[in-house]
Amino acid sequence: MVYTKIIGTGSYLPEKILTNADLEKIVETSDEWITERTGIKERHILDSSQVLSDMTEAAAKRAIEAAGINKDEIDLIIVATISSEFITPSAACILQQKLGIKSCPAFDISAACTGFIYGLNIADLYIKSRTAKCILLVASEALSKLTDWTDRSTCVLFGDGAGAVVLKADNHPGLRSTYICAESHHELLYAKSCLYVDNSKYIEMKGNELFKLAVMKLSESVQKVLDQNKISSNEVDWLVPHQANLRIITAMSKKLNMPMERVILTIQEHGNTSAASVPLALDVGIRDGRIKRGDTVLMEAFGAGLTWGAALIDY
Ligand code: ACO
Repeated sequence: MVYTKIIGTGSYLPEKILTNADLEKIVETSDEWITERTGIKERHILDSSQVLSDMTEAAAKRAIEAAGINKDEIDLIIVATISSEFITPSAACILQQKLGIKSCPAFDISAACTGFIYGLNIADLYIKSRTAKCILLVASEALSKLTDWTDRSTCVLFGDGAGAVVLKADNHPGLRSTYICAESHHELLYAKSCLYVDNSKYIEMKGNELFKLAVMKLSESVQKVLDQNKISSNEVDWLVPHQANLRIITAMSKKLNMPMERVILTIQEHGNTSAASVPLALDVGIRDGRIKRGDTVLMEAFGAGLTWGAALIDY
């Protein structure tokens, strides 16, 4: 039997930081409102000279270095994003060129905030079918480029960043299972392509309605992967949730009966970085020594589509 193992992680955040105090100068809001309703204190934002592929490349290089592999061992590149500087070629092909990887399949997936979980699901199928042996999966988002900086209901939420993993075929269990799903409620959360609209390409969101659906669908997702593996949340060492709202994360920790000490939180400093939020938090937890080899880690995400999903790994 062949299994999918995470052998290296990496991440990247732009240097520029936008605090809640900075946002108070842009829209009618307050640090108190943002902190109370979302848990966010600051977020990282690309400066005007940077593009998405700069972040994708930096996170990928760190993951490759942590994995200790030669880049030419990579036989599949997947990038999860909704905010590439190119419509075509794919962000994965741009990354392939930047890394100097000569020849392997490379493609993008678009599943908004659930992009990394979708990516794990796809990568696992490639490895289990013995179609690939060493996969670079990067989730990278420049949501600041899709943000209407005059809309206080969305601009306080999002940030930019990238997270990456190198996944390798292994004889021992690593990725235990994934669950992904989608249902069309596109009117609750969308950004129109600038090819078709002149005046608005920005993210539109009905936050309040999404909040309830997020808790419901995330609970369903984590229960699915726990059931698939016939384990309870007591046997899970770490929850690495999508970082959309601290209140959603707290609700999930209560539902799972997992204290917040066993939850990796980055929302205060990163905001919501969409697909990048889970691998960014995973990398933070691994690099600061909390997540150790052998630990069982539960990841979950929810986003536009609507899409949602979860993954369980033995790190
Ligand atoms: N500052 C001050 N007041 C604000 C702000 C702001 N930045 N934004 C909204 N308000 C006001 C509203 O106008 C409203 O005022 P009113 O009562 O006078 O009408 C009031 O605050 C309450 O607004 P709500 O939208 O009801 O606030 P809520 O508590 O629901 O918080 C939030 C909003 C943070 C967006 C929350 O609903 C949420 O996190 N939803 C889920 C988001 C999510 O999970 N999205 C999916 C993933 S994201 C992705 O895929 C890209």
